[in-house]
Amino acid sequence: MTDNIKHVAIIMDGNGRWATSKGLPRSAGHKKGAETLRQILETAADMKIPYITLYAFSTENWQRDKAEVDYLMGLLRQYLNSEIKEIEDRGARILFIGEREMLANDIIVKMSELERRTKNNKDFTLCIALSYGSRAEIVAAAKKAAILVAEGELKVNDIDEKTFSNLLYTAGIPDPDLVIRTSGEQRISNYLLWQIAYSELYFTKTLWPDFSAEEFKAIISDFNSRERRYGKV
Ligand code: IPE
Ligand code: IPE
Ligand code: MG
Repeated sequence: MTDNIKHVAIIMDGNGRWATSKGLPRSAGHKKGAETLRQILETAADMKIPYITLYAFSTENWQRDKAEVDYLMGLLRQYLNSEIKEIEDRGARILFIGEREMLANDIIVKMSELERRTKNNKDFTLCIALSYGSRAEIVAAAKKAAILVAEGELKVNDIDEKTFSNLLYTAGIPDPDLVIRTSGEQRISNYLLWQIAYSELYFTKTLWPDFSAEEFKAIISDFNSRERRYGKV
């Protein structure tokens, strides 16, 4: 089933609306969303999809109310301290992309520790976009290129798409084949702009807390029926 799919990137959206529609605080949506995440990762591991990238928190999400940001950081801590173990035990290599210096110190330490501990795992790669913004990533890559040129380690004429890709947070990770966004919003919200140049996009109205393994599998089947042309005929 997953012969031709290597990388699925997910925008997990709609937690707040899910909670509001049930008369609950937004935090309840985030909590339920974390349960959905556990299910979807299990399913992706069963399906042997080699790379999964999750949009967990954007650079723009720092502008939300402090109480909501604090709640999300608490959930993240809990996730990194215990729940991620399940996925680690399934042979996942865990990576983080984003501006990690914005995060609390204990979280940064935990992230590096997980990356170190899982770096030789081969079954699949779980990449978590945390405090991530694509434009910031591209600007950071441009700065790295400028520094390498200034230091004489890179020639301007050697800057091509491949060299540039290798300066992004996602260096070494193949581009997503498919991007799934839940919650009905049909936008990218500063996610992997460079990397999704030729990705297939799938938007579902389902809110993230209601997203299921069945729907995930159906979306992968839909992807498998699409014809990708890359500008050719
Ligand atoms: C996605 O759900 C989770 C994060 C962005 C952290 P939202 O919190 O954006 O939920 P809605 O879009 O307000 O419903
Ligand atoms: C995108 O969702 C970020 C994450 C899912 C982490 P948002 O809810 O922040 O996006 P907008 O504000 O609707 O574009
Ligand atoms: Mg949202």
